[in-house]
Amino acid sequence: MNKRPPLIAGNWKMNGLRTGGRNLARSLAGWLVETRPAVEMLICPPATLLAEIAASTVGGPLRIGAQDCHEQTSGAHTGSLSAAMLADAGAGVVILGHSERRRLGEDSALVAAKAAAALAAGLRPLICVGETLVERETGIAAQTVTAQLRDSLPPGIAATDLTIAYEPVWAIGTGRHADGATIAEMHALIRRELADLLADGASCRVLYGGSVTPANADAILTLPGVDGVLVGGASLDTESFKAIAMAGGA
Ligand code: PGA
Repeated sequence: MNKRPPLIAGNWKMNGLRTGGRNLARSLAGWLVETRPAVEMLICPPATLLAEIAASTVGGPLRIGAQDCHEQTSGAHTGSLSAAMLADAGAGVVILGHSERRRLGEDSALVAAKAAAALAAGLRPLICVGETLVERETGIAAQTVTAQLRDSLPPGIAATDLTIAYEPVWAIGTGRHADGATIAEMHALIRRELADLLADGASCRVLYGGSVTPANADAILTLPGVDGVLVGGASLDTESFKAIAMAGGA
């Protein structure tokens, strides 16, 4: 398989006010231009910061994404944001199906509808899948992730427009990342499924997410089948996020 540069993605979740967010993005964008690590970098700030951060980084290598979108294009959906609004604000990517949203009741059919809306607006979906601790302990992790993957992809999506993140729910924000054997096994499973589901499944990046830090990034990024990482907490600290990028680009 041709080796593409790893994608180091940061999910800021519900964190960041204008001054701090702007400084974080600016510092990262400047560093990326100067240092040129052999990785691609994406940050997904809260929607309130998208337009300002996208405007300040336009033309540079730092990619900007959103954290969710509505499945409809417009209308009476108080508090929601359409994919076109996010694209208009400067996002190029949108995270969909994060476990923190699935936990609120989003099922894979809704994730697929959102992904279709994203594609129609010119956004690339980054779709998260992953099992809970109970699912792992009862031996149904593979079935859970396979079903999420199959049901979350919109019809006709091209592998090059799609990124998958394997994020075991029990590893998110817990400081307890999945071990190397588990990550390699689940990534292999996801790759087999993608090869089955998509014409060019091997072109799809598969990221790992869940308690990635500078201390474990190198070991995770060198595992077979891992094309990058989706980082929550450690992406809010510039030095940590840069160190993770350096681990990927070394
Ligand atoms: P974490 O979050 O790195 O803080 O565990 C990862 C994620 O939720 O994408």
